[in-house]
Amino acid sequence: MNILSPSILAADCWQLGQQIEQVQRSGAKYLHIDVMDGIFVPSISFGMPVISSLRKRTDIFFDVHIMIREPERYAAQFVECGADLVTFHLEATERIQETIDAIRQAGAKVGISIKPGTPVEAVLPWLEQVDMVLVMTVEPGFGGQKYMDTCTEKIRQVRAAIAEKGLRVDVEIDGGVTAENITVPLEAGANVIVAGSAVFRGDIEENVKMLMAQISHKS
Ligand code: DX5
Ligand code: ZN
Repeated sequence: MNILSPSILAADCWQLGQQIEQVQRSGAKYLHIDVMDGIFVPSISFGMPVISSLRKRTDIFFDVHIMIREPERYAAQFVECGADLVTFHLEATERIQETIDAIRQAGAKVGISIKPGTPVEAVLPWLEQVDMVLVMTVEPGFGGQKYMDTCTEKIRQVRAAIAEKGLRVDVEIDGGVTAENITVPLEAGANVIVAGSAVFRGDIEENVKMLMAQISHKS
């Protein structure tokens, strides 16, 4: 199944609750929540208190993308405050197994992400242990960047490796998705598509419906 995961990094924080309701009303099942520490990436976003307070108000699936160094230190806390899935960066830790175990034991799904410069080979040894691989299609840190075409081949390679091993692992992509290019990652094998600016700039409900129509058309 193909899924749209609207990224609230592009939302208006003053109206965050209302905007999440709009996204949900338009049919989105996932919400992408970007956590940044100012160290692994050169920006700081939001953390546990924001996730906890949103969790009290909505049952939408929380797709939490943690762009933080040493994710093993905080992984379980993100689950406790409401994440359904926690995706961490392979480049951010030496303790990949520990991070996977911490998320799993806390009761959430596990995602592992690679930056545009990280080769696909790095993620292959972990495929059996994760629910999702996130192939970044921009350098993590900011919304509103341009989709990097060089990443499309990586999506293909990850999907092929998953198929070859006979696994059921989602492939998510994140960064630079627009109504014009959304079919590119889908055709390459991605099935979870993050969209920030393409959802929250302009008419949110229209944007979600239009992107979801394109996504389901490819299912
Ligand atoms: C970037 C974040 C993305 C970001 C995507 O580091 O991980 O989730 O919100 O934003 P757009 O869709 O605007 O490129
Ligand atoms: Zn993200």
